[in-house]
Amino acid sequence: MKRQLAVEKAKELLEKMTTEEKVAQMIQVTYTDGGREEALKWAKMGAGSFLHVLGDDARELQREAMKTRLGIPVIFGIDCIHGHGLNTSATIFPSQLTCACSWNPEVARVMGEVSAREVATDGLHWTFSPVLCLARDTRWGRVNETFGEDPYLAGELGAAIIKGYQGDDLSDDEHILACAKHYLAYGEATGGRDAYDTEVTERKVREVFLPPFQKAVEAGCATIMTAYGFTDGTPLTADRHIMHDILRDELNFDGFVITDWDNTQSLVWLQHIAADISEASVMAASAGNDMIMTTKGFYEGMLNALKEGKVDISVVDEAVLHILTIKYEMELFDKPEKKGEPGCFGKEEHLDAARDAARKSVTLLRNNGMLPLGNGIKKIAVIGENADNVRAQYGDWTYFTHPVPDPTNSRPAHRPYVTLWEGVKEICDQEGIEASYAKGCAVIPKGEDDLEEAVRIAKDADAIIYAVGDVIPQFGEFSDRADLNLSGKQYELFELLKATGKPICTVLISSKPLCMGITAEQADAVVCGFNGGMFAGQALAEAIFGKINPSGRLPISFPHHSGQIPVYYNQMPGWHGGKYNDMPKTPLFAFGEGMGYSAFEYENLTCGSDLQVSVTVKNVGKVEGTETVQIYQNDCVSSVLTPVRRLIAFTQVTLGAGESKEVQIQLKKDDFALINKKCEKVVEPGEFILYAGHSSKEEDLISITIKM
Ligand code: NOJ
Repeated sequence: MKRQLAVEKAKELLEKMTTEEKVAQMIQVTYTDGGREEALKWAKMGAGSFLHVLGDDARELQREAMKTRLGIPVIFGIDCIHGHGLNTSATIFPSQLTCACSWNPEVARVMGEVSAREVATDGLHWTFSPVLCLARDTRWGRVNETFGEDPYLAGELGAAIIKGYQGDDLSDDEHILACAKHYLAYGEATGGRDAYDTEVTERKVREVFLPPFQKAVEAGCATIMTAYGFTDGTPLTADRHIMHDILRDELNFDGFVITDWDNTQSLVWLQHIAADISEASVMAASAGNDMIMTTKGFYEGMLNALKEGKVDISVVDEAVLHILTIKYEMELFDKPEKKGEPGCFGKEEHLDAARDAARKSVTLLRNNGMLPLGNGIKKIAVIGENADNVRAQYGDWTYFTHPVPDPTNSRPAHRPYVTLWEGVKEICDQEGIEASYAKGCAVIPKGEDDLEEAVRIAKDADAIIYAVGDVIPQFGEFSDRADLNLSGKQYELFELLKATGKPICTVLISSKPLCMGITAEQADAVVCGFNGGMFAGQALAEAIFGKINPSGRLPISFPHHSGQIPVYYNQMPGWHGGKYNDMPKTPLFAFGEGMGYSAFEYENLTCGSDLQVSVTVKNVGKVEGTETVQIYQNDCVSSVLTPVRRLIAFTQVTLGAGESKEVQIQLKKDDFALINKKCEKVVEPGEFILYAGHSSKEEDLISITIKM
C-alpha cells in the first residue's frame, strides 16, 4: 500500500481505538516469557507484536489478534541475524562480519533476500537485523554481528541487506521488515563492555556512528532498534535528541522505533533514572520509542501515567500511528500471514547463496607460496578443534546459541554443513591425497588435549592445516573478552607443529580478530574464515587448494595484543602516531587487507572536476582474480582533526591474467564532508589527498592531490 494511504488508514483506525488498545499496540511480548497461555492473553488484549515465536504458534496468536474488537493484526519479530537461524531447518549464512569480508553489497543483498523468504515461510514479518554498530574495540562480544569497523563499508552493506530483506514493497509476501540496530554508537562502549557507557560527543556521533543509520533510512529501513547504552548520563532509551530530533527531524525516518530488550524497565532497575515503571514508560515513549520490547509492565505503567496526567495521550498516539502505518503499508490487515513458499527452508537455491557468500568471504592474509596446495602433496594433516566444530563455524545467533521451541520442526540440526576437515577430506579423496585429522587441543581447555597425536599426524604429513579460533562461550551478547589471545594450548600446539618443519597454513575460525601471534607470524599461510556458516569448510578448503581464488578483504583490523586495541585504520593523527613502545605501530593485519593467487598493480589515478575517478588496475598474476578497488581520502587542512585516511568508495573488478582495466568510480561532494565544531556537515574548500589501491595500508595505495 502506498505510504500516504497507509497514513490515512492508520489515522482513521487510531480514532476508533480506546486508550487501552493504543497502549497495548505499543507492546511487544516475548513468547518465551510466560509461554502459550500468557501469549494468548496478550494477543486478546491487542498487543502490537510478539517476538521469538515461530510457525504454528505464531499463526495461533495471529488468529486471536484478528478476533479482537478492531482486528488489528500482530507483527511478529525474530532475530534472523545471518539466516533464519533460530529455526533448525534454515539456511545459515556467514555472520555479518564474515559477509563483510566479501566487500560485496550483492552478497549482503542476496543474504537478506533468501533469509527473508525463509522467515516469511514461518509466518513471520520482521527481523532484528542488520547491526550497523561499528566494531572498534574488539574486546566487545558482539563484533561478529557487525559489518566491521568502517562507517562507509557498514553503510553500504547495511543498505544492501535491508533491500534484500524488504524488497521494493513492504507488502510483498516473500519479503520482511528490516530493523537497523542498535541506534546509536552501541559498539563504542568503553572498554568493549557490552551495553555500557559510551564516551562520545555529538560531533563524533555524527561523523562516525550516524552515517550507516542514515544510509539505512535512505534505503527505506522500516524499523530502528534503540541501543542499550548511555552517553553522558543519558540512556539512549530516554534521549529524545538522538531518538527523535536527529532520527525523525534530520534523517526523516518514517518507520517505527522499537526499544531493545527491557530497555524501559531497566531505566528503573538498572539505570536508576526512573523511580518506577510508570515514570520509565513516560520517558521511553516521550523520547521516541514507539514499540516496547518485552516490558509488559509498560501497559499498566503508561495507563497510570495517562490517568494521572503525567503524559499527554498525543505521545501514545504518535507511537501507535507509526506502528499502524507500517502495518497498513505491509497490507497486514488483508493478509495477516506472510505466504512464503512452503518448505523453502534450505532449498538448493538458498544453499547455493550461502555457499557463494562463504566463498566470496574467504580472506587469504599471508602466503609464502605454500598455497594453493597441490603438487607434491601426498598427505595432509588437519588439526584443531575448530577444523571440525560446526557450532564455532556457525557462530552466534543460531539454534545452537538461542534455541527457540520450534513446534513446526522437531528435526535436529541436520544441515548439509561442511566443516573445514570435511571440506579438505572431500578434495583429498577426489585427488588421491591422504588426509587425517586430530583435534590436538580444545579451544577452551577441558583436560582432554592430545597434542602428541596432533604432532604425530603432522610429522607424517607433507602439509599442515591448523585451525585456531574461539568457541561459543567466548563471544556473544554476554561475552566480552579482556584477553584476545588464543585460549588453551593453541599457541603451544603451533610451536610443536612448527618444530616438525612441515609447512603450516593457519586458518582462523572465530567470531572476530584474535591476537594470532606466532600462529600468523610464523605460518606459511594464513586464511581468515571467521564464522562462515554452513559452507565455511567447503569454501575454505576450496581456497586452500586453489579451486577458487580467494578475494576477501578484511572489514576490520587485527591487533597484535589486546592492550593495543583500538587499532582501526581511520584514526586521528595522534602526536606519537598511536604507537605503544612495546608494540609495532601497525596492526597485525590492516583494514582492507587480503590477497589471492593473483596480484594487482595500480597506475594513472585521475579525478575530474565532476569527481569521476579513474584508475588503471592490472592483474599481474598468472590466474584470473577479483580485486576490490578501494578509494580513500584525507583532508589536508581542516577546521577539526580528520582521520589519517577515510574510505569513501570501493568497487570490484575481475581481471584475467595480465589483463588491465580502467576502473571508473563516481564520487560525490559529500564524500569530502566533515562535521565541524557546530555539528554541521560541511565540505571545507581546499586540498584533499585522494588514494586508490588494494588496502588501507600506505604502501598499497597510490595518490593524487585534488582541490575542492
Ligand atoms: C537483545 C539484543 O541486544 C538485540 O540485538 C536483539 O535483537 C534482542 N535482544 C531480541 O532478541
